[in-house]
Amino acid sequence: MDNIPVDESSHPLRVGLTYNLKKNASENVAENEAPDMEAEYDSMETVLAIKNALESDDCRIELLEATEDLPLKLAKHDIDIVFNIAEGIQGRGREAEIPAIMNFYKIPYTGSDETTLCLALDKALTKRVLETYQIRTPKYFVISKDETKFNDSFTFPAIVKPNAEGSSKGISDVAIVSNPSELKSLISKNISLYHQDMLVEEYIGGREFTVGILGNGSELRVFPPMEIVYLDQQTPFNIYSYNVKQNYKELIRYECPAAISKEIETEMVQTAKKIYEVLQCKDFARIDFRLSQREIPRSENPQTRNSNSEKIYFIEINPLPGLAPGYSDFPMIAEFNGMNYNTLVRSILNSALKRHGFHFYLS
Ligand SMILES: Nc1ncnc2c1ncn2[C@@H]1O[C@H](COP(=O)(O)OP(=O)(O)OP(=O)(O)O)[C@@H](O)[C@H]1O
Ligand SMILES: [Mg+2]
Repeated sequence: MDNIPVDESSHPLRVGLTYNLKKNASENVAENEAPDMEAEYDSMETVLAIKNALESDDCRIELLEATEDLPLKLAKHDIDIVFNIAEGIQGRGREAEIPAIMNFYKIPYTGSDETTLCLALDKALTKRVLETYQIRTPKYFVISKDETKFNDSFTFPAIVKPNAEGSSKGISDVAIVSNPSELKSLISKNISLYHQDMLVEEYIGGREFTVGILGNGSELRVFPPMEIVYLDQQTPFNIYSYNVKQNYKELIRYECPAAISKEIETEMVQTAKKIYEVLQCKDFARIDFRLSQREIPRSENPQTRNSNSEKIYFIEINPLPGLAPGYSDFPMIAEFNGMNYNTLVRSILNSALKRHGFHFYLS
């Protein structure tokens, strides 16, 4: 299991695909459990789509579900590199579990390392680090699950999110609170459902974007921002909640490249690149932003309007973004930019192969 660069003579490349599967427990949710319990896990369709994208005469795929016996499975198969989409099993550092195991066995893998994944899964800690690099992020405070101390003077409206989740797990359509009493009741409900610290953040009411990044170093590619356009503009607070993600076809549309001024686009792309580099992301990541709210006269052309009063806020980074075809944001961004699903998946693997010193790439 040593990290020895493969050359053309050692074809085919043996790739282990690590993942955690949804078990469809959410169809039978108990009263004290959250309906979005398995939000982050993948379906078998996604696993097979990745397998299908990579498999060829040059590349053999071994499916390695990231269960407790993963080290035994690794010992059984002679794996050259792991394509990792596993979300891990438990705790704030769960996304780091597979990269840490791969480091231990000296097996190269795709994507960011354990330290980046651990940090990024803790939203508050990531904000704290990025603030030191002058990245603008909404004001916030954290309520510990063990001693619920409130900051009553916090600016409302605010959004309440589990501090260490993704896929909008724990972010329902009623995640916005307008006063201390609403905040207290949502916090107590969320802590009992999600058993973790809660992040309370200033609600940023403007347009929403996500930026996909692919590759490393001089070969880094930052895709143009994709806007999440909410179809119902009448609701006071629009958020990309768990419900919206499940029913995205009816509730939102995606626009990429987004109709924003060149100035904002450049700043967002530059900020995304800086965040990717500061957090030492590898191979791919997706970064979410919101603009501060501003009244836009209907007559104004969104492409040319003066953008001085709109500020870009970093919301969060996903260094292990979802790859569900036809559903996850990253494959959609790629598609909007002329890169089909298979090419995207192969590019992620190629970036990792290059970074790890392999002399072999998928065409
Ligand atoms: N401070 C904020 N102001 C306004 N809206 C917010 C804020 N924070 C989060 N949201 C809304 O909630 C959504 C989910 O939040 P966030 O991206 O932090 O969660 P996530 O579960 O990590 O998402 P992902 O599916 O990208 O992993 C955002 O896409 C956005 O619509
Ligand atoms: Mg997000």
